[in-house]
Amino acid sequence: MTDIEIADVSQHVGEEIRIKGWLYNRRSSGKVHFMLVRDGTGTIQAVVGKGEVSPEVFELADSLGQESSIVVSGVVRADARAPGGYELVLSSLEVVQSVSDYPISPKEHGVAFLMAHRHLWLRSRRQLAILKVRAELVRACRDFFDDRGFVLIDAPIFTPAAVEGTTTLFEVGYFNDTAFLTQSGQLYMEAACMALGKVYCFGPTFRAEKSKTRRHLTEFWMIEPEVAYCDLEGDMRLAEELVVYVVERILEKRREELDILERDTAPLERVRAPFPRISYDDAVKRLQEEGSEFTWGSDFGAPDETLLSNQYDQPFHVHHFPVGCKAFYMKRDEETSKHCRGFDTLAPEGYGEIIGGGQREDNLENLERRIAEHGLPREAFEWYLDLRRYGSVPHAGFGLGLERTLAWICNLPHLRETIPFPRLLDTVYP
Ligand code: 4AD
Ligand code: MG
Repeated sequence: MTDIEIADVSQHVGEEIRIKGWLYNRRSSGKVHFMLVRDGTGTIQAVVGKGEVSPEVFELADSLGQESSIVVSGVVRADARAPGGYELVLSSLEVVQSVSDYPISPKEHGVAFLMAHRHLWLRSRRQLAILKVRAELVRACRDFFDDRGFVLIDAPIFTPAAVEGTTTLFEVGYFNDTAFLTQSGQLYMEAACMALGKVYCFGPTFRAEKSKTRRHLTEFWMIEPEVAYCDLEGDMRLAEELVVYVVERILEKRREELDILERDTAPLERVRAPFPRISYDDAVKRLQEEGSEFTWGSDFGAPDETLLSNQYDQPFHVHHFPVGCKAFYMKRDEETSKHCRGFDTLAPEGYGEIIGGGQREDNLENLERRIAEHGLPREAFEWYLDLRRYGSVPHAGFGLGLERTLAWICNLPHLRETIPFPRLLDTVYP
């Protein structure tokens, strides 16, 4: 007998096969029991007819609890009425473990309960769909850069200094010293792009976000390209090409999962480069016209981003932020000196920022001044300053937040479902 995965049943119609999996759900008409079996690649209904199996097996099939681990054998039959179009006419049933008290039943559970049982919650159809889209998104990001000649460079997790402000640093003991969990691999990518031209890193990043919002995790994944001889304009073009590419990939490969998530794909089909661009100054005017009390000079909060992003039906870039609301490494615009050559990409449908990036300060004296102005410890940045001493060139890059992007693509209300084991202000278990 051949062991197969449920994803492949259509190639085995009429054959006797065996599937190793778990009982997802069951129902019965009395004479026929229907066992919904999942194996990670899909689900299939096993039909257990009275008189077609032994009385023991018939009874067993109607007594097993949800998530019992089982091995089922039988003949695959195409049946338009069956969920997925195929069913298994069961001939034998082997119970690996019988379960009677699985905590997550198909009924509704509260978020706190589900979060505390995240290790089991992952088995639900909806979570499976999200995880599969996530994996495809990761692959698409990698393919995008690999196919364009970028070299993958892994950035360290233990770091000596802040990149994105000192208020969200996680400090960890490092033998007799302290280190910080990385907030971004950017500074290391700047070093690497001076060696290799076009590079990217893709790894976990950490921020001690002290507020509870639907957009913040304390551990999240970022994909960060960095390109030598690139300016703000080239950087925004790279960002939009990436977003278009990954959205097309998900539409091509993960439609079934988007269906399970009840994601209306029309807004995703509309995503096209070039993205609309709006300067920070114009965005502020737009917000004020909409009745917001937002004042020039600060960074957008979630409500401002939502207001702006509701005005577009596809992703868009906001560029030239005031210097005061962006990080020390941003290159200032020579013309105004009040703005920096940075941008954010905001997703539509109220999702807000998914990418932050821009052109980097490449002048040694300016950068030394910024480090002092931001109150950052100069010693920790000496290596970074070397990059401006030895062959400094204009360069730019950005960071795409994997979970924010996934939340938008899947139309999820909260980031907690975008990552297998979310880390939040009040959550480090399981
Ligand atoms: O805008 P950010 O802070 O930019 C940087 O870290 C740059 N150093 C990146 C670079 O230029 N190489 O973060 C980039 C993206 C945001 O747009 C957002 O998508 C995501 O990272 N992000 C978060 N995602 C989840 N939880 C958080 N707490 C996040 N903070 C940022
Ligand atoms: Mg940002």
